[in-house]
Amino acid sequence: MTAKIPVAVLGATGTVGQKFVRLLAEHPWFEVAAVAASAASAGKPYGEVVRWRETAALPERIARLIVAEAAPPLPAPNGVPAPIVFSALDAQVAEPIEQTFARAGAFVVSNTRTHRMEPDVPLLVPEANVDHLRLIDRQRTARGWSGAILTNPNCVAAPLAMVMAPLHRAFKVEKLFVSTMQAVSGAGYPGVASLDIVGNVIPFINGEEEKVERETRKILGILTGDEIEPAELTVSAHANRVPVIDGHMETVSVGFARKVTPEQALAVLHDFRADPRVAKLPSSPTPPIEVDPRADRPQPRLDLERGRGMAVTVGRVRACPLLDLRLVILGHNTVRGAAGQAVQIAELLVAEGVVKRV
Ligand SMILES: NC(=O)c1ccc[n+]([C@@H]2O[C@H](COP(=O)([O-])OP(=O)(O)OC[C@H]3O[C@@H](n4cnc5c(N)ncnc54)[C@H](OP(=O)(O)O)[C@@H]3O)[C@@H](O)[C@H]2O)c1
Repeated sequence: MTAKIPVAVLGATGTVGQKFVRLLAEHPWFEVAAVAASAASAGKPYGEVVRWRETAALPERIARLIVAEAAPPLPAPNGVPAPIVFSALDAQVAEPIEQTFARAGAFVVSNTRTHRMEPDVPLLVPEANVDHLRLIDRQRTARGWSGAILTNPNCVAAPLAMVMAPLHRAFKVEKLFVSTMQAVSGAGYPGVASLDIVGNVIPFINGEEEKVERETRKILGILTGDEIEPAELTVSAHANRVPVIDGHMETVSVGFARKVTPEQALAVLHDFRADPRVAKLPSSPTPPIEVDPRADRPQPRLDLERGRGMAVTVGRVRACPLLDLRLVILGHNTVRGAAGQAVQIAELLVAEGVVKRV
């Protein structure tokens, strides 16, 4: 590749937007050409309007970019509009904005809930369902768009589906019970008020349980022709907000179509590798699932950065007296559950030749 591919970030000032900026600043293929946010931020240098929460310094070049309004055409420093647009927009405003970019020819990789469940929109966890990428052909034909919209799942559903994918393939998952402990960064910035969450647990996250239940079935579904048949499994989710900054933990019980021992499940999880098309991407961790045998792991503070935040950690795989198997899952909500995986999806678009290298 001679030059990096210009990309844009919508919602660049938010929690997920900042994670995009940080990850893309060091990316081997992509370069941030434009940042966009609400009208309140537009027209000012990014470094002035962003409340930078990342621990790495904000790169000078990006700090100087003038924030654009989230509408095409975005500034294109080298004259070429960004073919890839990452969306970390507030879900309330995302729908028309993302569609406008796709109509104008961009491949929009979205973190918002807005288009996830539409039948012609792929909901991707690349290690679990790379074949669903094909849905964009149907989408572009039906909608007459030169671009397309691709979506990242909810930040609980992404690590859950990653772990369930090999188990479902091997043993057929029929029942899934998941109870979450979700970090405050999952609510964006400024998110949950400190007086509500410090020293406390909130047993409600608006809309979260429904998203986990329906998105998991779509991700694990089978693509036949250009239709996804959702996986036939019953999911029961309990969503809780806990006083942790980053990292969603999930305690899970799973029922299978046949008896499965912890040893059999562990062997499948240990051996799981992504499809070679996905494994070779710069953001793909190897292995995608890290199994930790220690009795008190995973923990957000100790295990979140595995695979640069892209690996999902599994622990405490044991028999369940209610269903068949119990385990604990930890995923990074703004990396695997948002920006990191969206960048991986964009890499897939390039590797598969959907977006051409310059
Ligand atoms: N946080 C997570 O862990 C996580 C994980 C997965 C998915 N998501 C999803 O990702 C999206 C972003 O989440 P977040 O946590 O980063 O939220 P956030 O911190 O609240 O950021 C929202 C972003 O949207 C921009 N925005 C708001 N209104 C706008 C408008 N009318 N036009 C253009 N831009 C507008 C904001 O810009 P201003 O600064 O100018 O207001 C800001 O950049 C949401 O849809 C969320 O559900 C979040």
